[in-house]
Amino acid sequence: MFKFDNQVVIVTGSGSPKGIGKTIAKTFAKQNAAVVIADVNAVGVEEVVNEIKAAGGEAMGVVVNITSEESVNEMVKKVMDNYGRIDVLVNNAGISQKVTVADMTMSDMRKIFEVNMFGLFLCTQACMKVMREQKYGRIVNLSSVSGKRGGGVFGGAHYSASKAAVLAFSKNLSREISAEGITINSVCPGLINTEIWKSLPEEDAKKVIDSIPMGRPGETQEVANAILFLASKEASYITGEEIDINGGSHMD
Ligand SMILES: NC(=O)c1ccc[n+]([C@@H]2O[C@H](COP(=O)([O-])OP(=O)(O)OC[C@H]3O[C@@H](n4cnc5c(N)ncnc54)[C@H](O)[C@@H]3O)[C@@H](O)[C@H]2O)c1
Repeated sequence: MFKFDNQVVIVTGSGSPKGIGKTIAKTFAKQNAAVVIADVNAVGVEEVVNEIKAAGGEAMGVVVNITSEESVNEMVKKVMDNYGRIDVLVNNAGISQKVTVADMTMSDMRKIFEVNMFGLFLCTQACMKVMREQKYGRIVNLSSVSGKRGGGVFGGAHYSASKAAVLAFSKNLSREISAEGITINSVCPGLINTEIWKSLPEEDAKKVIDSIPMGRPGETQEVANAILFLASKEASYITGEEIDINGGSHMD
């Protein structure tokens, strides 16, 4: 189950040293996928590629800015030149900012949507073309609990809105492409044990923990596990769906 032999998996935002994307990439590599480490952070890209290769996995790095159509098209061309196919796209790259609506500028709003929604659109559209020709593909998006309940611990209303937009976009697109062997689904993580969590003052951290029925933040591996399932051949009749990964902090 959940093997990815001969499959090519692009994970955007996987060059973050302690981020969710890196764990996702390593998880696919362990299941025999060739993994594309795609990130704007060139140093991070190199590090993650080296780590995967050192563990015996197959990986290539692509430095990409997902907000640029030209850069995204270049990424797809490089992957196609190297591997000749794209089976899975994990739209993981994302940014956040803690700011109230009263203090938010139009530039703040644009920056968040540029990456979290427009960048996701560009990557999806470019990879979809290849998947359509293959008559097979899996797209998994990183939304957030904030996109469902409006607000979490860190992001502002623009972040929540961008993550809600991802969910609506996925559902709509699933109606367009699912009959062609391509599924598109999302995951909605709650608070995950990344750098941002570790930066929280103890008092704030306690408040957050008290609001999570499981009494702890999630681990990056727990997000990666759900993504691996949605991206697998076995998840063949699931599309336009979302999986909550939040320790019970939001149930619907
Ligand atoms: N950490 C959490 O608790 C949490 C919770 C819910 C959802 N999420 C979502 O999960 C995803 C990963 O989060 P994370 O905490 O690992 O973040 P992170 O900041 O550690 O990693 C994000 C990566 O995206 C890359 N990136 C940003 N802009 C880019 C661009 N224009 N082009 C290419 N790459 C770009 C960054 O360089 C970075 O490596 C995000 O979409 C985030 O919104 C995170």
